[in-house]
Amino acid sequence: MPRFFPSQFPISNSISPPPRLAMEQFMDSSFRSAIPAAQNFISVVFFSFAAGFFLFSVLLLLLRSRPWCNCEVCSVYLNSSWTTEFDNLSDWYAHLLRRSPTGTIHIHVLRNTITANPENVEYMLKTRFDNFPKGKNFSSILGDFLGHGIFNVDGDEWRFQRKMASLELGSISVRSYAFEIAAAEVSQRLIPLLSSVSGAGPIDLQDVFRRFAFDSICKISFGLDPGCLDLSLPMSDLATAFEIASMLSARRAAAPAPVLWKVKRLLNLGSERELRRAIRLVNDLADEVIRQRRKLGFASNHDLLSRFMASVSNDKYLRDIVISFLLAGRDTVSSGLTTFFLLISHNQHAAAGIHEEIDNLISGEVPTYDELRGMHYVHAALYESMRLFPPVQFDSKFCIDDDVLADGTFVRKNTRVTYHPYAMGRMETIWGSDGHQFRPERWLRNGVFSPESPFKYPVFQGGPRVCLGKEMAIMEMKTVIVSILRAFHIEAVDGGELRPKFAVGLTASLAGGLPVRVSRRAR
Ligand code: HEM
Repeated sequence: MPRFFPSQFPISNSISPPPRLAMEQFMDSSFRSAIPAAQNFISVVFFSFAAGFFLFSVLLLLLRSRPWCNCEVCSVYLNSSWTTEFDNLSDWYAHLLRRSPTGTIHIHVLRNTITANPENVEYMLKTRFDNFPKGKNFSSILGDFLGHGIFNVDGDEWRFQRKMASLELGSISVRSYAFEIAAAEVSQRLIPLLSSVSGAGPIDLQDVFRRFAFDSICKISFGLDPGCLDLSLPMSDLATAFEIASMLSARRAAAPAPVLWKVKRLLNLGSERELRRAIRLVNDLADEVIRQRRKLGFASNHDLLSRFMASVSNDKYLRDIVISFLLAGRDTVSSGLTTFFLLISHNQHAAAGIHEEIDNLISGEVPTYDELRGMHYVHAALYESMRLFPPVQFDSKFCIDDDVLADGTFVRKNTRVTYHPYAMGRMETIWGSDGHQFRPERWLRNGVFSPESPFKYPVFQGGPRVCLGKEMAIMEMKTVIVSILRAFHIEAVDGGELRPKFAVGLTASLAGGLPVRVSRRAR
C-alpha cells in the first residue's frame, strides 16, 4: 500500500512544535518540494506545446503540398506501379505526354505541370520568362549545395553572374584556352589510357568520361589539375564528394513532399546527414582551390576563377560560382559522351558516316579547331544522340502568378512547370514517325549541319537562360569522339542495353555504367 503523509512529512515525537510553527514548516517544505514539480510540469507543457506546434506545422505543410490524389496518374505515381512497364520515370512521363492531345500533363500530387509542347516551352522560357523563374522551391532544394551560384539564383543576382560569365565564356581567348585543355587531356591521358586497355577486358566508359570531364572542367575553371583520369588513382576527394552531393540533392527533388527532406535535414538524419557532410567537404576543398589560386597569382591566367577574381572579392561568392561551373561542365559532358557511344555501338550506319568524315578531314591524332568546325556529320550525330538522351532530361520552373500556357493549360501560381527534353525527343508531333530512330541525317541540309529551334530541342535550354557553355561543350565532345573513333573500335559489352536504366541525379547517368571492350581500329 502506498504510504502518504507519515513518511513524507515525518514529525519528531520528542519536541512537539506549536501548531502554528508546524503549519509553517509544513507549508515551507511543501512549497519547496512543489517548485521542482512545478518546473517539471511547465517543461512538460512547454515541450508538448512545441511538439504539438511542430507536428501541426508539418501537417499544414503536408496539407499544402497535397501529397495524395485519387486520380489514375497520381495513384500510379504514388505506388510506383509505372515500374512494371517502364524502366525510368522519364519513360513513363514520355508515354503520358505522347498520349496527351496537348503534349502537357499535370501530376497533382507534385503540383507539377509537365510539358513536351514546343510552344509552351517557348512561352515559359522566353515570352513569359519573368513569370517562370527557378523560384524558391528549386533554390531551397539546391541551396545548400550550390549556394548563390548562377544555377540557383534569379533576378539581379542572376543577371550579374550571367553578364560576367557570358563575357568570359563567349571570349575567343577562353574558348581557345578550353580547346587546348581538352585536346591535351585527350592526347596525353585519354588516348594512352584506351591504348593500355585495348584488347584487354572491359572498361567502364562512363567512369572514364566522368574523370575526363572533371579534369577538363577543373583545369578550365581554376587552372588546377585533379588528375582523375589516372585510373590507378582513386577519384579525387573533391570529385567523390561532388558526386555524392549532387546525387543526394537530386533525391530531394524527387520527394513527394519537400517537408519530408526538410524534417530529415532539421533532425540531421540519414541521407541529409550524408549530404551535409559531402557539402562541407566540397566547400572546404573549393575554399582550398581559391586559396591556392590566390597564392599562385591570378592576374595573367585564363582560367575562369582567375577572371572572376578580378571583379569579385568575396570568397564565399567565388566558391558558389566555382561549384556551379563544376556542376555545369562535368556531368553534362560525360553524360552526353556516354550515351553517344552507346548509340554508336548500335548504329553501324552512323559509325560509318563518322569514319568517312574522319578519314577525309583529320590529319593528326587529335583534330584541330578548324578541322572540327568542318565536321558536320559528327556534329549532327552528337545532336541526334542528345535528342534521344539529353544530359538534362527535364528542367523545372516556378510559376509566380496564375498563367495560361500557349496550349491553353491553366497554371496556378506557386506551382511547378517542367519542360521535358527527354520526352520531347520521343514526340512524333515534333520529329515525325521515325522520331524514335537514331538518324543524324535529319540534322543535315545538303551535308551542312542545320540547327532546330531551341524550343523544339531544349537540350541546352533556350531564351535568356540558354546554356552558356554550349559551344565549349560541343567542341570538347567532338574532340573526344573524333579522337577515339579515329583510333579505336568501341564495342558495348553484350551489345549494351538500348533501353538504358538511368540513376537518380541532376544529370542523366547510366545505372551500372557503360562497360565496353576497346580494340585498335584497322585502317
Ligand atoms: C552537353 C553539355 C551541356 C548541356 C547539355 C548543358 C545544358 C544546360 C542546361 C539545360 C542549362 C539550363 C539549366 C537551368 O537553368 O536549369 C544550362 C545552363 C548553363 N550551362 Fe550548360 N550544359 C552543358 C555544358 C556546359 C558547360 C561545359 C558549361 C561551362 C563550362 C556550361 C555552363 C552553363 C551555365 C553557366 C549555365 C547557366 C546559365 C544561366 O542560368 O543563365 N554548360 N546548361
